[in-house]
Amino acid sequence: MRLVPLGEAHAPRVISWRNAETNRRFFLSNNTINLEEQIAWTQQLAGRIDDFTYAIESNSDAVGMLGLYNIKYDPIQTGEIGRILVDSRHRRHGIASVAINILLEFAFHEIMLQYVYANILEQNVASRSLFEKIGFQEKFQFQTPERRSVIQLEINRDLFDLWKH
Ligand SMILES: CC(C)(COP(=O)(O)OP(=O)(O)OC[C@H]1O[C@@H](n2cnc3c(N)ncnc32)[C@H](O)[C@@H]1OP(=O)(O)O)[C@@H](O)C(=O)NCCC(=O)NCCS
Repeated sequence: MRLVPLGEAHAPRVISWRNAETNRRFFLSNNTINLEEQIAWTQQLAGRIDDFTYAIESNSDAVGMLGLYNIKYDPIQTGEIGRILVDSRHRRHGIASVAINILLEFAFHEIMLQYVYANILEQNVASRSLFEKIGFQEKFQFQTPERRSVIQLEINRDLFDLWKH
């Protein structure tokens, strides 16, 4: 399994994942996307240092995606992890867990962030359990303007290094 920068070639797969009602209900940005919009969005990712979004590939096939974005380097080095999705045929095999760990290794030991957070809809029990197993801890809850309840979980470098060994 490896993380590959999300490219135009992934666009058809991404829109089929993102537009499925079963997935869309778990995302804060839950509008449907068309192919042109997805390609344009992918193009603006190139060269960014505040947004690293990847396809998760297994045997050269895209089985999911995730991203590290909203990265701030000053005054505190921080970023958000999310846009995470695993194709329904490949779930419960540890793919999301491994992908998140690879991305956190990059976040904490390559671009040297101090902490990483995830915003998860309260109803998303699977995702919450996924992040808690990796060592994320609940920080606070908030409501979106659409009155959806969100839990913010966080992990810092020390905690990550402690949990991964
Ligand atoms: C959440 C999601 C990314 C998990 O992907 P995955 O590759 O199946 O996750 P993993 O196999 O690494 O699971 C790790 C842990 O997460 C939790 N988990 C995963 N799926 C779960 C489910 N359906 N119900 C309860 N817990 C679940 C479990 O604790 C699991 O550990 P276990 O298998 O030892 O019990 C996937 O279900 C998905 O794409 N969901 C729809 C989109 C979504 O909700 N994205 C997150 C938005 S914040």
